[in-house]
Formats: sequence, C-alpha cells, structure tokens
Amino acid sequence: MHNMKILVIGSGGREHALAWKLKQDRHHPEIFCAPGNAGTAALGTNLPIKAEDLAGLLVWARQHKPDLTVVGPEAPLCAGIADRFQAAGLRVFGPCQAGARLEGSKQFSKEVMAAAGVPTARAATFTDAAAAKTYVKKNGAPIVVKADGLAAGKGVTVALTPAEAEAAIDEALVARAFGEAGNTVLVEEFLDGEEASILALLDGEHVVLLASSQDHKRVGDGDTGPNTGGMGAYSPAPVVTADLLPFIREEIFGRMLCELKRRGINYKGLLYAGLMLTKAGPKVLEFNCRFGDPETQAVLARWEGDMIPALEACLDGTLTEALVRWKPEPSVCVVVAAGGYPGPYAKGDAITGLEAANAVPGVTVFHAGTALQNNSIVTAGGRVLGVTAIGTDLGAAVKRAYAATGEIHFKNMQFRNDIAWRALQRKKACEGC
Ligand code: AMP
Ligand code: GLY
Repeated sequence: MHNMKILVIGSGGREHALAWKLKQDRHHPEIFCAPGNAGTAALGTNLPIKAEDLAGLLVWARQHKPDLTVVGPEAPLCAGIADRFQAAGLRVFGPCQAGARLEGSKQFSKEVMAAAGVPTARAATFTDAAAAKTYVKKNGAPIVVKADGLAAGKGVTVALTPAEAEAAIDEALVARAFGEAGNTVLVEEFLDGEEASILALLDGEHVVLLASSQDHKRVGDGDTGPNTGGMGAYSPAPVVTADLLPFIREEIFGRMLCELKRRGINYKGLLYAGLMLTKAGPKVLEFNCRFGDPETQAVLARWEGDMIPALEACLDGTLTEALVRWKPEPSVCVVVAAGGYPGPYAKGDAITGLEAANAVPGVTVFHAGTALQNNSIVTAGGRVLGVTAIGTDLGAAVKRAYAATGEIHFKNMQFRNDIAWRALQRKKACEGC
C-alpha cells in the first residue's frame, strides 16, 4: 500500500508537536519537515528548505507529492503558500492568503471583526504620529499601541502612561522600528481580565473548537519582564468555563467564518483567537492564522486518537465534532530557553539529559531551537525545548514537567518556575471555599 507522506513546514516546538502527533496516526505516515529541528529529525526526514522559501518548497512538493502539507508558521501562509500549493494540485492544511491576512494585518482583522459584530477592543488606525498622539491624549492611559503588520511578536506595547504610548507611536511611525509592518499603527482600548487561547479548526462551513489553553508571554516568574513568543502553556484553561464555549464558538468563530464567506474568503485551516476574558464577556485581542506555540504542544498532548482525519476534513468541508476528542488529563508545557532570550542569546551549546527527561512518566520533550552537530544535540534558537507532561490532575502534570526539566542541562538555560500558576491558584481558592 502507498505509504502516506506528510510535509510539515516550520522548525519550532509547534512543528515538532505536529510531526509527533501526525506520526502516531494508525496509517504510520512518512514525515518530512522543512526545515525542522533535531526533534523532527528523529521522527522523519528534515529538508534543508526554509519555511519562507515558497519556491523551494513547491519544487520539492511537486517532485515528491506529499499527500498532505501542514503549515506551522504565519509567514508562509501570509505569503500565500496555501494558494500556491492548491494551484499545483497539492493538499495543504492552512488558510489561503486572503484568510491569513487576519494575522498579517491587525487593521484588516479589526475591520472584519467590526463587520461581523465580534467583541473586541475599540481601536483607531493611524499613519500619522501626531494624529495618533492626539488620540492618546484624548483617551488617556492605560492604552495599547500595535503595529499593523507581522512584527515577530514585538509590535505590541501595553502603555501604562500616555508618555509610553507616545514613545511606542514614535518607535513605529517615526523610527520605523518594525519596517513596513509598522507603517500603520492601531491605538486600542486597554482590556482588563485573564487571557486564554482558543484554537479552532475551520473547514469553510463548520467550526470545531480545540481544547482551551493558556500561554505565558512574559519571560519572568509572576508574569514579569519583557514579552516572549511564549514561555509555557497548559490545557485546559479553567478560566474558560463550559458556559463560555457556545458564545466563543458562535459569536466569535461562527461570526468570523460568516463574514469571511461574505467577502469570498473560504477559510480552511486553523484559526487561533487570543481572548481577554473581561467582566463583560470574552473579547478578541488578536487572531492568528495558525497553531499557537507553545499552546500546540500542550493541546496536542491531550488529543485522543488520530489527527489526520480532522485536518483532512477541514480541506474536504466535512468537519464534525466527532473527529476531535480529548484525554481528560490536563497537560503542561514548560519552555526551556537560552539565557538572554528574548534578547540576544548564544547558539551551539550542547544539551544533555534529554533521554532522562523523556523517561519521566507522561513526559514528551518537544524540540524548538535545536540542531544536530556532529551527532550531538545543540541549542540553535531562543526557545530551545518544550518539556510537556500530562498528569491525573494539573498539579501532577506540573510536577512531572518540572521533574523532567530538572534532568536537562545546557549553558545558561532559563525557564519559568510557575507555569500554570493561575489555574493552580484558582484551584486552591476553590478548595478553600
Ligand atoms: P497581541 O499580539 O495583539 O496578542 O498582543 C500581545 C499581548 O499584549 C497580549 O497577549 C496581551 O497580553 C497584550 N494586549 C494586547 N492587546 C491588549 C488590550 N487591548 N488590552 C490589554 N492587553 C492587551
Ligand atoms: N503563543 C502565542 C502565539 O503562538 O502567537
């Protein structure tokens, strides 16, 4: 029988988790990863093609004909990889370029949300610094300044004073710190509440929510220090109570799907909503057109059964709730990063203890910024590993994840000691009542 071939595009922890989950399918697919990391190399074949090299990826795919391509990062999606693969007769999981604009342009995303009636922070758009500052003066702080385009997670400033907001406006519109991505800025109402991530599968007609999760964006314990790509995650996020799910499914994702369709955009793939759970209900902070990182590591650890049928159903327009099932056990992913991250950091340091970490019950160590060098595994990025565990309860999962993290060593490694603290605190508070 023809052995199914899957191409995973990207090189982070999210992609290792996707490759890991896809590989477990009952049909035992052959996995290719472009460019992958040392973790994906152990599951299949890494290809020396960058995720942004659309032409190179297309050449390989035309020649090797993968049965399915799964796109991890936003850059190739925003550059139109799904459209190009489809035009070449290749099956690809990920939205078309027009749909990926929900992440590629915050202004476009706001416009679609407004037309769809989806709850989000009030915002105004500016290309002129003086006009933006006048708006800040009128509205006061706290207030949020966002670069319109893709700014590698660095384009958002939550300003606690008008002066901070003005500095952020100057950074984007005058100093052009984000290049073209910052030619337009959004100045947006500050929303108060707890954040959660909801990933959903969309097939152009139907929405199926994946298990909820919560990311930890700040580098330091207690949510201190600069923002990062994400220092850890856990699933489910108990702050997303069952009574919120119908609202999130229908009033957020359902309305977006409907409005996209009205605009002639057939969204097939994953849509990620970053939500603020405010006193007035869930409001959208941002949409991403792809799986979250590190949320995916925590969420996929809980996915029960095969994943390929659900992804294929997204392409075929046959998505149903029955295709997505969850293990009841909660999961936790602790990101181990290189010292200095999210600022400058070293690469090429040897990593030890991976085998012992993987041997801790319930633990899978997902690689992110790792590479193979003379048969040993070395650091190759800011976020290096995602130590992921499931357990009978969240406390047990956290214990396992940190026991495994304790086995791992590399020069100047750093990680947060408090992943899942909000959920653990909530639990404690409940036990007391
Ligand atoms: P974003 O990339 O738009 O999700 O923004 C990055 C982070 O900035 C979010 O995860 C929030 O912690 C924070 N943030 C963004 N928008 C707002 C807002 N309107 N109010 C409060 N915090 C925000
Ligand atoms: N964890 C945040 C993101 O993937 O954008």
